[in-house]
Order: sequence, then C-alpha cells, then structure tokens
Amino acid sequence: MKFPNPFVLGSGPPGTNARVLAKSFDAGWGGAVAKTVSLESAKVVNVVPRYGKLRSRATGEVIGFENIELISDRPIDVWLDEFRQVKKEYPNNILIASIMEEYEKSRWQELTRMVQDTGVDGFELNFSCPHGMTERKMGSEMGEHPDLTEEVTSWVTEVAKIPVWAKMTPNITNIREPALAAIRGGATGISAINTILSVIGVDLDTLRPMPTVEGHCVPGGYSAQAVRPIALRMVSQLALAIPDNVSISGIGGIENSHDALEFLLLGSSTVQICTGVMLQGVKMIDELKEGVEKFMVDKEFSTVQEIVGKSLPYFSTHMDLVQKMKAAKRSKAGEASRDNEWAQKDITEKTAELTSN
Ligand SMILES: Cc1cc2nc3c(=O)[nH]c(=O)nc-3n(C[C@H](O)[C@H](O)[C@H](O)COP(=O)(O)O)c2cc1C
Repeated sequence: MKFPNPFVLGSGPPGTNARVLAKSFDAGWGGAVAKTVSLESAKVVNVVPRYGKLRSRATGEVIGFENIELISDRPIDVWLDEFRQVKKEYPNNILIASIMEEYEKSRWQELTRMVQDTGVDGFELNFSCPHGMTERKMGSEMGEHPDLTEEVTSWVTEVAKIPVWAKMTPNITNIREPALAAIRGGATGISAINTILSVIGVDLDTLRPMPTVEGHCVPGGYSAQAVRPIALRMVSQLALAIPDNVSISGIGGIENSHDALEFLLLGSSTVQICTGVMLQGVKMIDELKEGVEKFMVDKEFSTVQEIVGKSLPYFSTHMDLVQKMKAAKRSKAGEASRDNEWAQKDITEKTAELTSN
C-alpha cells in the first residue's frame, strides 16, 4: 500500500462513518483504518457513559483515556456503500477496513469477500478489542491465543487479494508470539497496540468503579499518552523479531510529531492515532506533518522510510551496558550509585540524580 504520508487514523470514533473519513482525508491524513465492522450489527449494543479520563494532578491535562466502546453498530450494508463511496472520492488515500467476526471460517471469509469487493486497500484484523466483544469470544479472546490468531488469519488470507494486517492486543505476556502466528497465517503487516485492560478509577462518593453504567462497571481499554511507553516497547520488540518484509503500524498514545517520530524510529512505517484525534480533532495533522518534515530537514533524512527502525540498533542487554560503562571507564559512576548510598541523601534527590530526562 502506498501511503501519501505515514499518518493514519486508528480504528475507532475518528473512522466511524464516511463523513468523518472524508473530513480527515480533506484535512491531509494519508490513510485511515475505519471503525471495526462485523456481519451482524444488531448484536452490537453500546452503553453510556463509555469513556473515562485520567488527568494530570498538576495541570488537569488528559494523560490516560479508558473506553468500553464496542465495534461499529452500523449495518454492514451501509458500511459497504460507504467504503465504495470513500474510495471513489479519495482514490489516493489509503482506506483499510477493520474486520472482526465470531470463530467461524465461513463468517470471516464472507465478510472478507464482501468488504474486499468495495475496493478498500487493505484489511486490519481486529484480534485485540479487550472488552465487550470478548464475551462473544471475539477480539482479544482470539489475539491472546496464537493458535487462533494463526488459524483465523489464514482463513482471511485464503480469500483476500489485498494486504492483511493483524492488530495485536497488549494484554499478553509476549507480543511476539501472536504476531509471528499472524505472519504464519499470511499477514504482511502487524498493527500494535490496541488498548490495555484497565479500570480508570473509583468514585469515592458512590464507591462505584468507573465508567459507571447504572451503578455497575466492566474493565475497559486504556489509551492516550500514558500507554505510549508500553506501546513503544512492544513495537520495538516486534520490529526486532519479525521478518523485514512485514510492516509495522505503530499505535498507542501518539499526540504529536515527537511521539510519531519515536514510533518510526523504533520500526513502524506508519503510525495510527485514535484518542489523540478524539481529544484534539483532525487538524492535529498539520503539526504532525510540519514536525516530521522539520525533523527530516534537520537530521538530513530524505524519505520517511529512512527513519524507520533507525533507533533499533541501540537496544542491547543489561550485561552489555555494564561492559560498555566499564570500557568507557565510568564503572566508578556505577559504584557511586550502589544501593547503600540511598540513605545518605533525600530519596527524591537520589531519584532525580539517577533519571535520564
Ligand atoms: C473510543 C475508542 C474506540 C475504539 N474502537 C476500536 C475499534 O473499533 N477497533 C479497533 O481495532 N480499535 C479500536 N480502538 C483502539 C484504537 O484504535 C487504538 O488501538 C488505541 O486506542 C491506542 O491508540 P491511541 O492511544 O492513539 O488511542 C478504540 C479506541 C478508543 C479510544
């Protein structure tokens, strides 16, 4: 898939119908993954409220975001028309359909064929929504089991004539396992990460966990800037583990060009943004483009592809870091920070002394 730029709307409210997709392409987004679709929208019933925010104690800024939103509740026939319409109006933008179904080969293949016929550019298989859909054994119920991930991916790639990406859940110990399974099943791209299972807080007046629906709650998916370090770690692990001909689409807490560059440097060739767009609007694309362009001029990169994975060679082992410090004759610095030093200074000062940024 040839993206006009590496900035892609992540599956969710920013890609929830043709109107919002058109608005984002007009604003300058290179591609979009539409909200996940399935064969039977009648089975999808959302609740209100379904979002919750974690705010910075100091500034009130939103640093974490939880949702218990399901996949699209719009009928598949409506979606098929809209995929056609968007592709017709925006032939140069990349439109990826996110699909999800129950564990049944005929259902996955029927959905794949129907959606493919509309002319979308690629598929993203949602093996990763961690709430609601799991009660029907969908979403992360599949992505947490590499054998299912491989099998279902192979059902899709058997009938798909366009690229297939598999979207990973972070709610797993070793993200490389489902990713490699999806690749064995024929996926040529890995999207990472979907949301992290979370409880955003507890209301101390009512004693109810949030978001509270008619007095009750379920754990939901965590996104926004708080998840970025976890997403960066998982993307780097994937980049170091998967074959070179498989691309990575990095997702998780990207809110500006600085964040996007981190994902590119750790091996993503595109980046997806969902919560950032929900909080800032589609116009955030202007800063994303300007910031990445400025970085490329400053650092003398002529293509985005040259940035991809540039920071990966700097990962090492702890043992190697110790040896490198010794070689640089800085082993004394290591000695000076041994654990018995902590009592001599205020703990906050000592913490600051050992912090890199
Ligand atoms: C309200 C909301 C709805 C979402 N719906 C979907 C969805 O339908 N399919 C999907 O694959 N991911 C969905 N996601 C996950 C996002 O695409 C993304 O993987 C995750 O939120 C992390 O990225 P972000 O921090 O940029 O939001 C949703 C996220 C949010 C916040």
